[in-house]
Amino acid sequence: MCGIIGFTGRAAALPVLLSGLRRMEYRGYDSAGVAVVSAGGIQCRRAVGKVSALDAALAADPVDASATCGIGHTRWATHGAPAVRNAHPHLSPDGRVAVVHNGIIDNYAALREGIKSRGGVFRSETDSEALAHLIREKLDDAGSLIEATCRALQNVEGTYGIAVVCTDAPDEIVVARKGSPVVIGTADGASFVASDAAALAGRTQSVTFLDDGDAALLKPGSFEIRSISAGAAVVRPATPLDFAPGAVEKGGFEHFMLKEIFEQPEALENCLRGRLLSEDGTAKLSGLHLDAREIASLSGIVVTACGTSYYAGLHGAYAFEQFAGIPARIEQAAEFRYRNPIVAPDTALVSLSQSGETADTLAAVREAKRKGALVLSICNVVGSTIAREAGRGIYLHAGPEIGVASTKAFLCQVAALGMMALLFGRTRRLSCEDGRAIVSALEALPDLVRAVLSQNDKIAAIAEKYAGARDAFFIGRGYQYPAALEGALKLKEISYLHAEGYHAAELKHGPIALLDENVPVVALVPQGPGHDKTLGNIQECRARNAPVVAIATEGDSAVEAFTADVVRVPPCPEFTAAVPVVVAEQLFAYHVARLRGEPIDQPRNLAKSVTVE
Ligand code: AGP
Repeated sequence: MCGIIGFTGRAAALPVLLSGLRRMEYRGYDSAGVAVVSAGGIQCRRAVGKVSALDAALAADPVDASATCGIGHTRWATHGAPAVRNAHPHLSPDGRVAVVHNGIIDNYAALREGIKSRGGVFRSETDSEALAHLIREKLDDAGSLIEATCRALQNVEGTYGIAVVCTDAPDEIVVARKGSPVVIGTADGASFVASDAAALAGRTQSVTFLDDGDAALLKPGSFEIRSISAGAAVVRPATPLDFAPGAVEKGGFEHFMLKEIFEQPEALENCLRGRLLSEDGTAKLSGLHLDAREIASLSGIVVTACGTSYYAGLHGAYAFEQFAGIPARIEQAAEFRYRNPIVAPDTALVSLSQSGETADTLAAVREAKRKGALVLSICNVVGSTIAREAGRGIYLHAGPEIGVASTKAFLCQVAALGMMALLFGRTRRLSCEDGRAIVSALEALPDLVRAVLSQNDKIAAIAEKYAGARDAFFIGRGYQYPAALEGALKLKEISYLHAEGYHAAELKHGPIALLDENVPVVALVPQGPGHDKTLGNIQECRARNAPVVAIATEGDSAVEAFTADVVRVPPCPEFTAAVPVVVAEQLFAYHVARLRGEPIDQPRNLAKSVTVE
């Protein structure tokens, strides 16, 4: 997704802009640019490719290094191919205004025609350039940049997060949002704007998230928020920026993904901290703002999400039914929002999103609210749009997840849903004793993960045997079925090796036709209800000469009859066994991708947060 950064203060702007762009590289992009403002006007430099290409463009044609105000952008193309002319910032024809934009302008074709009819000339194929024209058109009558920006945005339909600078006010930045995140902050006589709080880590102690319909005027060390439409002053709460120093750096690991895989014990400890009540065998999730009577009156639960979060949601749906006895289903967010789903008023919709900005999941939240459902969110990014629009929910506290492939967020989502299912169960038929057993199982998660992490070298050796494969299957039953889906996604999204997750029993209904000695099968077969049947499925795979990698419980010698490639996980209850299993899958995928020389943290075609449909 696109990234926005902006700075106005007393120090040089360019280093802050470039550092912020680098912090957002993980989001996935195909071009980058900066614009700085000084008495001499606006200077803009853009480049296709990574920020390093922008560095080269700046070295070849420097901007005013003393400029103390500027904006920057990383672009993930939606309208117009990756090209310098389509990169942001976009300038008005006379160079007085520069704009960076995240989002999609739905009525940009009509806007372009109108601007052209008034003599405007476009230099790009983007929707975003229309904003530079519109703001410039309003500037002379409006009397200020923020008023001109707000008037221009009255004509815009669609989504935007923008930052605007102007030669008329060389120390001002105007920002606005509708549907695409914008966060602002101040420190040491400077003001900052970004589309992702991680870009401001270490720059400011707290940030303020704009709401849809907000605009803000940033001056060095201060900002004022107003309504775009009404102009009235608006106050938004400040949120502590709790990224530990270096949290957005790699910490000595080769990739952010590996760092985040190894951070999972601590991430789980942070997610669970203060929320498990051992004595009462339940969980305390005050962010839900639900009392026991409201929970007890729920007749159904719909969990909705995308991608990895969807697989965590499937795991959670099983837990809701197992512990709370509430009918629960998982729905892909894009399906939920368009199929006019049946949502009873006493249904809870649990939206799951690491970024809290996924467009399809956000739309599902809005659809559920329109249908009167009780909407809850489980997000990782504090203050994110889904969290704020749901209004009730819990945060993962997993820390910033920089790698595009989600790892620690998945584990924490499983733990968070488990705590929610425990809480819901204890308002119903789940006994205190059974609740205590679940509390113990959740408390044991960090050590289960550590046990698998200690096998990193062994898993790397197994990965080496299969790094050349072209296809692979992941199979599991029960809670291991979402784990199989997640393992397949991890492998394909970072190694580009085609992989499918399948219910172990489903293989014989077609996919088994694909098996031969070139198609490895990763079989998830920890001790539990599905163990013996999955052993049978492993036999079916071996009968077709498919090599098998088994992820099995320590001491389970049965699998050794079928394969020597066994990753061991500690014994644990069925409900938590997917967590150590998925860690083994994460490491397997990571090492296959590393051996194949793929970029891992920024896989081709992918973005960390898919804020467009
Ligand atoms: C997972 O590794 C992928 N990056 C992707 O499937 C991701 O889980 C999905 O886009 C949902 O993102 P969210 O959790 O931020 O909503």
